[in-house]
Amino acid sequence: MHIPDITIAIDGYSSTGKSSFAKIIANEFSFLYLDSGALYRGVTLFAIENGYIGDDNTINVPELDKAMNNLDIHFGPEGTYIGDRCIEKEIRSMAVAGKVSPIATVAEVRNFVDKKLREFGKNGRIVMDGRDIGTTVFPDAELKIFMTADPLVRAQRRADEMKAKGMETDLQDVLKNLQERDYIDSHREVSPLSQAEDAIVLDNSHMTMDEQVEWLKSVIKERFGL
Ligand code: DC
Repeated sequence: MHIPDITIAIDGYSSTGKSSFAKIIANEFSFLYLDSGALYRGVTLFAIENGYIGDDNTINVPELDKAMNNLDIHFGPEGTYIGDRCIEKEIRSMAVAGKVSPIATVAEVRNFVDKKLREFGKNGRIVMDGRDIGTTVFPDAELKIFMTADPLVRAQRRADEMKAKGMETDLQDVLKNLQERDYIDSHREVSPLSQAEDAIVLDNSHMTMDEQVEWLKSVIKERFGL
């Protein structure tokens, strides 16, 4: 299916399968896929490794802000990189998952990430997933999807994903982390997770990936008169 040069913004709660969905869509339409959460996770890893966030999640914002001036974070063949170092595995760990929401509340971090995302996505034909893509990063995106699903279904999905990568998981821990992130993400002051007015809701609690892709194609056909 050939579709126009649009920007597709996919927002929603943690572990609703946004990134799997976005990747498949990108592949299907030959669009570029950009994972905005990976940049927040990368900044979090950077903050942990350099001592800008403590065990109690206190953040040294002025120092982190200064250090981000020299932070070369970008996407490459194996996922997310800082300079030449691939950080894809580290950014998916529970250590990073436990600190990424507090880091993502920091306005300086959000400005840093937004700038990168707009730069990476400036040529269109992209699918970007996150929490505030349709509301803040690309408010003019031609197509906005807001994904949601039952929390227990989401926790099970994330736990399965982690197990498949050989990580130790406890479903209750995963559920707790996910609910904490939902709360922080929806209640922060700067760009909270919220549904854009012109976004279309996709609740995939009981949908297969194929059904979701078919659903999106029909939305696109209708929207763009294809
Ligand atoms: O999509 P993810 O689980 O990899 O995102 C990790 C965290 O990053 C998430 O808890 C909230 C934050 N995030 C954000 O605040 N804004 C985005 N556009 C994407 C992610």
